[in-house]
Amino acid sequence: MSVVSHDERVSEHYLHGDLLSAIEAALCALGKTSENLTLDDLAPVDEFHIGGRLATDHLIDQLKFSKRSHLLDVGCGLGGAARHLASKHESRVTGIDLTSEYVETGNALSGWLNLDEYIRLYHGSALSMPFQDNMFDGGYMLHVGMNIENKTSLFCEIYRVLKPGSAFGVYDVMRQNDGELIYPVPWATESSNSKLSTPSQYKKALSGAGFAVSSVNNRVDFALDFFRQLRAKTQSSSDTSPLGLHILMQDNTALKMKNMIENITNGLVAPVEIIAKKV
Ligand SMILES: C[S@@+](CC[C@H](N)C(=O)[O-])C[C@H]1O[C@@H](n2cnc3c(N)ncnc32)[C@H](O)[C@@H]1O
Repeated sequence: MSVVSHDERVSEHYLHGDLLSAIEAALCALGKTSENLTLDDLAPVDEFHIGGRLATDHLIDQLKFSKRSHLLDVGCGLGGAARHLASKHESRVTGIDLTSEYVETGNALSGWLNLDEYIRLYHGSALSMPFQDNMFDGGYMLHVGMNIENKTSLFCEIYRVLKPGSAFGVYDVMRQNDGELIYPVPWATESSNSKLSTPSQYKKALSGAGFAVSSVNNRVDFALDFFRQLRAKTQSSSDTSPLGLHILMQDNTALKMKNMIENITNGLVAPVEIIAKKV
């Protein structure tokens, strides 16, 4: 009997099976093709974290990356944030992700937007990256740590590949209080795949790896406001847009979202930002 590893279960959780075609079909329904597509058209599907592009900008603005830096996107997913940074900050971005379908789809999307010269997504684990020491000028991680138990190993590996003085930002769903979470949620179908840590555990792991942590921001109010606005928008229009995170979360999208909002409202989890620096 073969034993399925945690990493295999994580990438199985995110696997779609025919993701690029599904995105292409949704774009086609909106009158978009690879010929007339813009970066903003993809934002509803290629930023898989609470608050999407708004949340990315909020984190990135605090990291103050210099223009034309080479940045690392840990757990890059489809690379939406990477493409946004490449175009906003003229950065070169290298991403790494455990789910090979996300990496292949993300590289194809970058190609459609003629951004493939600036962005390269690799398939692999954030715990053992195929990158040299001191290679990147900065980095960030958006909603990834919920699938990684050993935060100390994760941050030691990230520390290794960043240049001294690099800024590093985390935006993850973190544990706030004890209590049973309701599943499924967007990052896990059941509790065995969910590896949540508290903000203090993140801080301890970051400091243990050598980072200096400068701020920890609980984004619960932003998240609840974002969900309220999303609900109002969905209720006021009769059709839902064909392009959205439902393509990634598939059949039980509504249940995953409802459970996540309930877990947040019950004070069990919250999205939290952490700003750190490699010293
Ligand atoms: C919720 S998605 C977020 C994707 C992306 N950061 C974004 O915000 O659009 C979580 C991602 O983390 C990736 N992931 C989970 N564990 C990982 C690991 N050990 N190494 C690399 N990627 C991982 C998953 O494959 C998935 O793409």
